[in-house]
Amino acid sequence: MKAIRTIAVCGAGTMGSGIAQLTAQAGFNTIQFDLSPAALKKSRLGIVAQLNKLVEKAKITTEEREQVLSRIRFSTELADCRADVIIEAIIEKKEVKIKLFNDLKVFNEPDVVFATNTSSISIDAIAEGMDHPHKLVGMHFFNPAPVMKLVEVIRGSHTDPSLVELVFHLAQQLGKVPVICKDAPGFIVNRVARHYYLEVMAMVEKGLITAEQADASMEAAGFKMGPFKLMDLIGLDINYSVSNIVWEALGSPERLTPSPLQQAKLQEGKLGKKTGEGFYKY
Ligand SMILES: NC(=O)c1ccc[n+]([C@@H]2O[C@H](COP(=O)([O-])OP(=O)(O)OC[C@H]3O[C@@H](n4cnc5c(N)ncnc54)[C@H](O)[C@@H]3O)[C@@H](O)[C@H]2O)c1
Repeated sequence: MKAIRTIAVCGAGTMGSGIAQLTAQAGFNTIQFDLSPAALKKSRLGIVAQLNKLVEKAKITTEEREQVLSRIRFSTELADCRADVIIEAIIEKKEVKIKLFNDLKVFNEPDVVFATNTSSISIDAIAEGMDHPHKLVGMHFFNPAPVMKLVEVIRGSHTDPSLVELVFHLAQQLGKVPVICKDAPGFIVNRVARHYYLEVMAMVEKGLITAEQADASMEAAGFKMGPFKLMDLIGLDINYSVSNIVWEALGSPERLTPSPLQQAKLQEGKLGKKTGEGFYKY
C-alpha cells in the first residue's frame, strides 16, 4: 500500500478545520488550503483552542501541541496542495468540487488519491466530471471531525478498489471507525437520519413542541445532542442541501419532503452556529 506522509485538506470551514487538526494530531504533515484568508485564520484559531483544551485536560503536553501546530501549513495557494492524499471539504457544489480536483491534478504525482468529504453529492456524479474518475473515493467524516468516530468510506462505481483499502486504513490511523458503503443517496447515516430531522421539524412546525422540548427529550433519551442543536452545529444550509439531494435522488417521496421551517431559516440567513443564529442564538 502507498505510504502516506502528507495530506492536503481543502476547505478550512467547519469540517476542513477539524479534519486538518485530526491529520496533524495523527502525525501527518498537513496542508490546509482555502481560498479565504479569513477562513484559514479562523481555522487556525479554532485548532489552537481545541489543542489548548486537550492540554488543560492533560491529554497532550504543550510540546505536543506545538508539534501538531508545526505540522500544519495554512495556505491560500492551490499550488501548495502537493500531497499523497487530498481530502476535499469545500462548499457542497458538484461543479466546484470537480474543478478543484481537476486543477489539483497538475500539481500532484499521478498516484495522488482524491477523497471527498461530501455529505450528499453522489461520488459517481463528481467522478464523472473528473479527468480520472477512478481516482476518487468518498471519505465522509462527521461533525466535529476530531471527536466523531465514524468515517463512511464510499466506493463509487469508478473507484479503484485500492483507494477504498487505502482510505479505510487511513481512517483507522486517524483513530476512526471506517465503514465501507456503496455510493447511494445519503450514504448510510445521512439517509437514515433524514427521518429523524424531518419528523421533529414537522412537529415544531405544527406547534406540537418547541425545539428546546425536542432537544431536551432526545438528550434525556440518550442522544448526545438534540436534533435542533445538531442541525445548528452541522449548518442548516448543509443539512437542508442533504435533505434536498436525498429527496430528489429517491424520486421525491412525500415522506422525505425538505422542511419549510428549515427553508425559512435559510432565507433569513440563519445558518446555525457559524452565523451566530439558527434554531438557537449563539
Ligand atoms: N457541516 C457538517 O456537519 C458536515 C459533515 C460532513 C460532511 N460535510 C461536508 O463537508 C464539506 C464542507 O462543509 P463545511 O460544513 O465544512 O462547510 P463550510 O461552509 O463551513 O466551509 C467550506 C469552506 O470551503 C471554502 N471554499 C469554498 N470554495 C472553495 C474552493 N474552490 N477552494 C478552496 N476552498 C473553498 C470556503 O471558503 C469555506 O471556508 C461539504 O461538502 C459538506 O457537505 C459537512
